[in-house]
Amino acid sequence: MTILDGKKISNDIKNEIAARVDKMKERGEKVPHLAAVIVGEDGASLTYVGSKVRACERVGYKSTMIQLPHTTSEVELIQQIRALNKDNDIDGFIVQLPLPPQIDEEKILLEVDPSKDVDGFHPMNFGKMALDMSTFIPATPFGILELLERYKVETQGKHTVVIGRSHIVGRPMSILMSRKGWPGNSTVTLTHSSTKNIADITRQADIIISALGVPDFLKADMVKDDVVIIDVGITRVKDESQPRGYVIKGDVDFENVSKKASFITPVPGGVGPMTIAMLLKNTLLAREQRNN
Ligand code: GUN
Repeated sequence: MTILDGKKISNDIKNEIAARVDKMKERGEKVPHLAAVIVGEDGASLTYVGSKVRACERVGYKSTMIQLPHTTSEVELIQQIRALNKDNDIDGFIVQLPLPPQIDEEKILLEVDPSKDVDGFHPMNFGKMALDMSTFIPATPFGILELLERYKVETQGKHTVVIGRSHIVGRPMSILMSRKGWPGNSTVTLTHSSTKNIADITRQADIIISALGVPDFLKADMVKDDVVIIDVGITRVKDESQPRGYVIKGDVDFENVSKKASFITPVPGGVGPMTIAMLLKNTLLAREQRNN
């Protein structure tokens, strides 16, 4: 069994990016500048955005964090997005999800200039991705592809079962794994909350990508021997014995499933750190495209 070490690979990627940023600086070029907009005070979202900003500093990017109160109206957020679209110094930006209930997420995603949409959430970029055109691939799916590639995991002709149909992970992952090319070329089953007898389906899987958000959902009796496991779950579970008062749990019963797996991502330290590395990669692409 091989651990797909997202912490190590994301560090490698950040070092590669930092080396490119150093070269940009030597040549007197503008370094990439990422902005992140966060609405409200959700603890998990603040943690994620904080990590994104720190990652920018680590590789030598400029970063801007824009924190708006949870009472922000849709119109106010749209004004902020339009300002970022116009700002020539900003190469890419993200609007951290979820948004408070008074704001329509769809309207917001449509406002982002597709050339600065480093999350790859704008319908134009999502459509391009689905049509195999070059574009920004959402960071978490992009990170999963990168892990499969760097560990040379065979995907061609394999049966990939994706659990969860979210717009951020499950849906794009199902599209990417069925694409011609590598990683990809697999036969994909996309399962979700209305799927019947899910264990019958996961037991047929060569590769399982779980983005459900239910701790320890995937048990050893739901997988076959030598399965490849990608665990995208990151649920905070209360644990008063921890200094933070919680532990992070994946979707997979790691202790038992890992005994049957050929490759498996841990939580934490698997997919999570890859997401941030790939956001940085998309921001570098955005900068390079604005140069051309
Ligand atoms: N919320 C959870 N994951 C993400 C992500 O990748 N990007 C944004 N913008 N919000 C998120």
